[in-house]
Amino acid sequence: MATPTLTEIAYRTLQQSRSIAGLAHKEISTKLMELVAPDVTPRTEPVPGDMLMQLRQSMAELEDLDWREAEQGVYPTTQLFNLPWVDWATRYPKLWLDLPSTWNRRRERNIRDLPDHADEALYPDYYLQNFHHQTDGYLSDHSAELYDLQVDILFNGAADAMRRRVIAPLKRGLRHFADRPAASLKVLDVATGTGRTLQQIRAALPEATLVGLDLSQAYLRQANRWLNQGDSNLVQLLQGNGEAIPLADASTQAVTCVFLLHELPAEARQAVIDQCYRVLEPGGVFVLADSIQLADSPQFEVAMDNFRKAFHEPYYRDYISDDIDNRLRQAGFTGIGAESHFMTRVWTATKPAEA
Ligand SMILES: C[S@@+](CC[C@H](N)C(=O)[O-])C[C@H]1O[C@@H](n2cnc3c(N)ncnc32)[C@H](O)[C@@H]1O
Repeated sequence: MATPTLTEIAYRTLQQSRSIAGLAHKEISTKLMELVAPDVTPRTEPVPGDMLMQLRQSMAELEDLDWREAEQGVYPTTQLFNLPWVDWATRYPKLWLDLPSTWNRRRERNIRDLPDHADEALYPDYYLQNFHHQTDGYLSDHSAELYDLQVDILFNGAADAMRRRVIAPLKRGLRHFADRPAASLKVLDVATGTGRTLQQIRAALPEATLVGLDLSQAYLRQANRWLNQGDSNLVQLLQGNGEAIPLADASTQAVTCVFLLHELPAEARQAVIDQCYRVLEPGGVFVLADSIQLADSPQFEVAMDNFRKAFHEPYYRDYISDDIDNRLRQAGFTGIGAESHFMTRVWTATKPAEA
């Protein structure tokens, strides 16, 4: 076995620390909830020992792959350390201060506790909820400030490693347009949120034209802060619904979509996939990442069920039994493949060149 380089040791140490920090945060906040607000403690199932081992193994495999792909140049190793440390450190206390209002919403079963300034007519009804019991749903700067940190804690520091799994299939898919200048290739990230996937994609494809679409202005504002500073190519950020993407037919060469589908009702899921197909140029690639499902990861059923019980995720149960391959076929995609990495499943599909 080759001796690990200093960079690899640094990466693995960082991941271990993120994992410990995530676990410790969840452990302490759960204990606090049991003490202060026992009536709202979710009735989750205990995770069996063998499943814990399998989860650890699966996370270790994700970390190995993440390192290997960086080493192979799929994306620069600097991406493995790309965390907004100062922002996260200053925002972390707000997570704790936010807990009592989260508990209150749970207690009152209030899933529509949204800011007064939100013009509800602008959004689909399914969107107007406090997903994850999050304060303000997706509709405030406060929510956008805390989101990435919350996701990182939820996945014990593995969220970015899971997002990076879209990069290899994306680059493979774009080889179809290898005869064109890199700057003429457009990649659209649907439901980009605060733009963390786009940050990773930009590092891997620095010349491509990148576009991020999301329904939340507040999340796009945060994405703009993180993406559009310095002298890198400007990322275009569009406010809009993935069910009606405001781009012309066949106008992009690649589309990515990360962690959206499980938050959509079934019809919206199909509508988003159909739209991704519509905006792709024939020969273009669609890379979709979302939660693992019961069919591919039955061994993690308890973890999936606990996620649904602990967080407000109204469409998750339906999503984990949904046949996404079939939805992709229904939209017209071919060459459909999928693989699972820890808690994420990544689908790759192509719009036929003759479409
Ligand atoms: C769980 S977050 C995922 C964000 C990001 N892709 C990531 O990796 O963290 C879901 C995102 O989808 C956005 N969203 C939900 N429904 C949408 C829709 N119909 N069209 C566009 N964006 C949507 C939300 O505003 C939010 O930013």
